[in-house]
Amino acid sequence: MNEYVISARGLSRHHGSGPALVRAVDGVGLDVAAGETVGIVGPSGCGKSTLLHLLGGLDRPDAGEIRLAGRRIDRLTETAAARMRRDRVGFVFQAFHLVDELTAVENVELPALLAGASRRTARRRAAHLLERVGLSGRAGHLPGALSGGQRQRVAVARALVNDPPLLLADEPTGNLDSAAAADVLRLFAALRAEGRTLVVVTHDSRIAGTADRLITMRDGAFVDETVLTGRSGGLGSLSGLA
Ligand SMILES: Nc1ncnc2c1ncn2[C@@H]1O[C@H](COP(=O)(O)OP(=O)(O)OP(=O)(O)O)[C@@H](O)[C@H]1O
Ligand SMILES: [Mg+2]
Repeated sequence: MNEYVISARGLSRHHGSGPALVRAVDGVGLDVAAGETVGIVGPSGCGKSTLLHLLGGLDRPDAGEIRLAGRRIDRLTETAAARMRRDRVGFVFQAFHLVDELTAVENVELPALLAGASRRTARRRAAHLLERVGLSGRAGHLPGALSGGQRQRVAVARALVNDPPLLLADEPTGNLDSAAAADVLRLFAALRAEGRTLVVVTHDSRIAGTADRLITMRDGAFVDETVLTGRSGGLGSLSGLA
């Protein structure tokens, strides 16, 4: 059995060919232990989002292996990958990606309903999570009537509704002013404190304060790693660390 929540080896994802070839992710390896928060930083275009999409099964690698809780996820059929994402991975994106026509509580409960929860159970979980992110008073609001920070907190609640073992976030504070970003950062710090496993891509140096480990990417590769606490899993053996 693999002890890591997520484990990647020799992971590559290239786009285009010939002179237009882009090595978006180029032979990286990563082990994330249960309860660990890993921050991924690096300049624009270095491959952070591509890596996150691979780890969450939104995209497939050209080479390498990915295991989620010990199970290979890099060669699933599209249907199996969709089910895996729904049940086992929570995603938070820079642009929130809420459904504009649904209220906050309906957005949060949607993945639970899709996973087969009863209406009552889904609603109860969604209401509880909205309370958790400080938005119980906004449950009936449409996203358009919420601030950016509130929308992102709804997105975090939605990412948690199926209680996934892994939470992935891509620039979760990228569209927020600094007060709203601080709220979202506090939320991530609380998730870390409760033992969630998180991989967060960010330009925000304050994320460093909430991570156990920071990995720097450049040109598709890992070029630096800073361990900030004692609970880290470590880079994989094929990380290609410069
Ligand atoms: N579908 C695609 N086709 C061609 N090239 C792509 C595609 N997706 C990404 N790329 C390229 O792959 C590289 C990595 O992109 P990626 O989006 O992962 O970077 P990033 O580190 O997330 O950047 P940012 O900080 O700006 O979000 C970039 O050079 C990008 O142009
Ligand atoms: Mg990106």
